[in-house]
Amino acid sequence: MRSIAVVNQKGGCGKTTTAVNLASYLADFGKRVLLVDCDPQSHASIGLGVDTDNLTTSTYDVLMNPQVSIDDVSVEVTENLHVVPSNVVLSAAEQQLSGQPDRENRLRRKLDVVEGNFDYAIVDCPPSVGLLTFNAIVACDEAMVVMEPSFYSLHGALKVTDSINLVREQLGLKKRIRVLLTMFDKRTRFSQEFLREAQIRFGREMFDTVIRRTVRFREAANWGVAISHYARTCTGARDYKALTQEVIADEERLTSEEFEPVKEAETSGLERGMDDWILSQPGPHFVEGGILFSLVAPEANDVELIGSFNNWDREHGVVLKRESNGVWHTTVDLGPGRHLYKFVVDGAWRPDPANGNRTDPNEDCIIEVYRRG
Ligand SMILES: Nc1ncnc2c1ncn2[C@@H]1O[C@H](COP(=O)(O)OP(=O)(O)O)[C@@H](O)[C@H]1O
Ligand SMILES: [Mg+2]
Repeated sequence: MRSIAVVNQKGGCGKTTTAVNLASYLADFGKRVLLVDCDPQSHASIGLGVDTDNLTTSTYDVLMNPQVSIDDVSVEVTENLHVVPSNVVLSAAEQQLSGQPDRENRLRRKLDVVEGNFDYAIVDCPPSVGLLTFNAIVACDEAMVVMEPSFYSLHGALKVTDSINLVREQLGLKKRIRVLLTMFDKRTRFSQEFLREAQIRFGREMFDTVIRRTVRFREAANWGVAISHYARTCTGARDYKALTQEVIADEERLTSEEFEPVKEAETSGLERGMDDWILSQPGPHFVEGGILFSLVAPEANDVELIGSFNNWDREHGVVLKRESNGVWHTTVDLGPGRHLYKFVVDGAWRPDPANGNRTDPNEDCIIEVYRRG
């Protein structure tokens, strides 16, 4: 089984669209494909028509419960294409896993078990470089770094590439990185220059295929199908088909040279690498629509978010929603700048345990929002 993690900490650059369409074309080409949705926003699952509001098991259980296997959770959405769906409950996994043994190997151990059942595993990552993305990187032989022509996206791509190289050096693992440019608009000079710049920076790692910008993607996602099934002849569909052919063409090269799959990784080195990694992005997550805050508090009756963005006004705190596993969450659209916040749990102030970025160890948590790219 060949495994590919689709990554970039920047949201909205085309990761999920790539994961869904690559997986679906691979299945069309007769490959047995498993798509693992590792994003609490679950757009890949929704995009393939899974009803994520009524899941009994999900990626969350695969990572958290040693008894749950990928086979228990995966759903067949079309011929040859299986999905391990996620939902917002997954947002708690990073926090709950921190400090637990073997936290960075959870996905790898589960994928190892189904190794013989699939030709490809594609993992759609969240727009952050936390423990979920780290699990995906460790689990997969290859990383497909996706970016759209924007400097935030390039920055994210360089950062994630650095982190993969770090893991690679610390563990002496050969992990392949390939970079894909999406939402390319050849009519704009910026797109053209960006492509040239990316080719210089990433060289051989860039895919020859570039995905062009087309409105059809949004339409396809709304219908809960991959673009290959919705509009076979549009440019986007042709581009993803070409990408898939390029990925398949790599198979031979991979088996013949350079490539060596991860087997038993040396955990101590990995943990160090992961700590560096996680420290680079603790706490809340940047998601489409704002910042996703979450807190594990099964015992609580009421959790609110209060901060500089609502003038620390107790009357107007943002009320968090509770999931059945005791995780509370909310998404707030914060403007650029430095924001301070705390949770109020049943009336008591509490800093966010997942956010080490504080004004003081016990004080307000800090989240910095940069101008959106
Ligand atoms: N090539 C493309 N052309 C036009 N729109 C696109 C393209 N690829 C993705 N999109 C749209 O951009 C938005 C973000 O894409 P998505 O794949 O969800 O990004 P990510 O997973 O990185 O957050 C979605 O609305 C999607 O339909
Ligand atoms: Mg996504």
